Amino acid sequence: MAGLKWSESNAVFVPQIDDEHKDIFAAVAELDEASSGGDLPRVRKLTQRLTARMSEHFAHEERLMRAARYESLRWHKQRHDGARKRMDLFAARIHVGELPAAVELAQYIRTWLPDHAAVADRMMGAALRNHRLSTWKVTFQAGTKPLDSCSWVRADGEPFEP
Ligand SMILES: [Fe+2]
Ligand SMILES: [Fe+2]
Repeated sequence: MAGLKWSESNAVFVPQIDDEHKDIFAAVAELDEASSGGDLPRVRKLTQRLTARMSEHFAHEERLMRAARYESLRWHKQRHDGARKRMDLFAARIHVGELPAAVELAQYIRTWLPDHAAVADRMMGAALRNHRLSTWKVTFQAGTKPLDSCSWVRADGEPFEP
């Protein structure tokens, strides 16, 4: 099955968010590849990686939206919550050894993520840019640190807590 590849058409024009989307796209492509090979332990591992990246990414976006007092945060978070629930269902099936659920999970994200990025994340990106987000340096990286350890620094070097 063809993998999912990030392209400019998926850009939301917030570099940290675009980078995280690229990582998720790469994780979906890897999961796709492993599920077509039928390697269940690897599929389980890659499912865990993908769902962890998604969860951290959603949490990051929600944190940025709160920081910017984004008015559509609730609506946007509901979209994330819907995807969280779906992902949990797929992950539970994969956990008990149902390999086709991995194909369905990859297919689901392959459709969901570009749609979500094209509308919800782009709207968010525009609002964040209006809040001069581009002048902040955010040192949080999805998947590499617990959320609590992210540090926020303004362009002038002053730390701040959103
Ligand atoms: Fe989002
Ligand atoms: Fe996103």
